[in-house]
Amino acid sequence: MVKIAPSILSSDFSRLAEEIQAVVEAGADLLHVDVMDGHFVPNLTFGPPVIKAIRKVTDVPFDVHLMIDNPDQYLEDYAQAGADYIGVHVEVCPHLNRTLTRIAELGKKPVAVLNPHTPLCSIENVLDLISMVLVMSVNPGFGGQKFIPSSVDKVAELHAMISRRGLDVPIQVDGGIQADTIGQVAAAGARVFVSGSGVFGHASGYKAAMDEMRERAREYVRHSG
Ligand code: DX5
Ligand code: ZN
Repeated sequence: MVKIAPSILSSDFSRLAEEIQAVVEAGADLLHVDVMDGHFVPNLTFGPPVIKAIRKVTDVPFDVHLMIDNPDQYLEDYAQAGADYIGVHVEVCPHLNRTLTRIAELGKKPVAVLNPHTPLCSIENVLDLISMVLVMSVNPGFGGQKFIPSSVDKVAELHAMISRRGLDVPIQVDGGIQADTIGQVAAAGARVFVSGSGVFGHASGYKAAMDEMRERAREYVRHSG
C-alpha cells in the first residue's frame, strides 16, 4: 500500500551499482531515476546510456523522472534503456494526451508530473491515461531541498479529484520526503514516496530510513481512516 522509491540522485555516483544493490536489499519498491537536462531544470545528471547500464543491476522497476525539455523527442530512448515508468512534466508537454499515449504504446507506464505551481486542472482530462501522478513537493532540480507545505493540500485535492472520477491512480510525491514530512502527505492520500537524501543521507542506514518512513506513512494512513 505504501511504496518507497529511493532517488539515486543522492547516491554516491562513483559506486552507483553498489548503491542500487544496497537500497534494493534494504526494501526499495521502485528505483527513482532523475534525468535532468540543464534547461528545464538548472542541473544536469544522466541519460539513457547510464540507465541502460544500471538496468543490469536489478529487476526492481525503474521510475524515470524526466526533467527535460521536449521529452517527446526522447521517449523511445528511455523506453529502450529500460524505464518501467516514464514521468513527463506537464509544463513541457503542449500535447500531453499524445505524449502519455505514446508512452503507453511503447509498453511503459505513463506518469504525469506537476511542478509546485502547476494546477491540478492541467491533468484533469488525462487522468484515465496515466499510471501515476507525481506531485512535486519541491521545485525540481536538486536533492536535499525543503518540503513545500502547500503540497499537502494539493495532494488531498488531487486525491478527491481521482476518487470523484472513480479512478484508482496512485499519487506520488517527490522532494523533501523523510520521516518528519511523509506522514502528512500519506494522510492526504499519497502512496508512493520518492526520497533521495532521506534514504541515502540517513545516519542509521538505508533500511532504517525506509522502514521508518514506511511505518510513519502507515500510521498516518491508519489514523486518517
Ligand atoms: C528533485 C528530484 C528528486 C530528488 C529528491 O528535482 O526530482 O527526485 O532526488 O531528493 P530529496 O528527497 O533529497 O528531496
Ligand atoms: Zn525526482
